[in-house]
Amino acid sequence: MGFSLFVAGEELLVLQALWLMIPAYVANMVPTVAGGGPPLDGGRSWTDGRRLLGDGKTWRGLAIGVLAGTLTGIVMHFLAPAFPGSWGLSNLGSEPVYILVAMLLSTGALFGDSVKSFVKRRLNINRGAMWFGPDQLDFVFGALVFLYVGSEAMLFAGALDFNWVNSNLSLVGVVAVLILTPMFHLATNALGHKLGWKEVPW
Ligand code: CTP
Ligand code: MG
Repeated sequence: MGFSLFVAGEELLVLQALWLMIPAYVANMVPTVAGGGPPLDGGRSWTDGRRLLGDGKTWRGLAIGVLAGTLTGIVMHFLAPAFPGSWGLSNLGSEPVYILVAMLLSTGALFGDSVKSFVKRRLNINRGAMWFGPDQLDFVFGALVFLYVGSEAMLFAGALDFNWVNSNLSLVGVVAVLILTPMFHLATNALGHKLGWKEVPW
């Protein structure tokens, strides 16, 4: 009865996709508060004279982000059965697949973030200046690409007899993640700025 935004069951596909993105969200967020120190590019410049990545991409941010995202994924894996079955949230797979999935989501997120910074510097957009779109979605693309390539690799290596992404994520879910993530991202960054954790509100 009444108006529903989703056809029956689709909201569960969206919930599941958002759930699986949590390690990527954590990996992307933690460096903002825990990053800093020596930059990934070692201070080196590209042929255009500008920095390879810039001071916003650091070793500490990468290490702590990957660690925090991976640990989050592992906790989620064991937490999944505690949620009501009707929510349809899955764990991250068999042993040791769930650990690899958590690592792929986290490293992919921060790899995507660094690739975006590389392109930003080539386009002469300063470190920290907003590049609307890529700044909000870089880590989601990175996480999904790593997860998909990793899933194909696990299939090829015989660790799984199905593609992990195909059996855990839906197109509806991924599209919803791509639409909702920029909103979450802008809202949490604005909050982080208000709390004094982030220099800029984006
Ligand atoms: N950070 C880090 N190491 C990373 C990623 C992020 O230390 N691998 C920290 C940096 O302090 C960075 C902050 O998290 O300033 C916010 O990250 P992000 O918005 O991705 O970087 P920007 O400073 O905006 O740089 P860019 O313009 O290159 O995106
Ligand atoms: Mg930024």
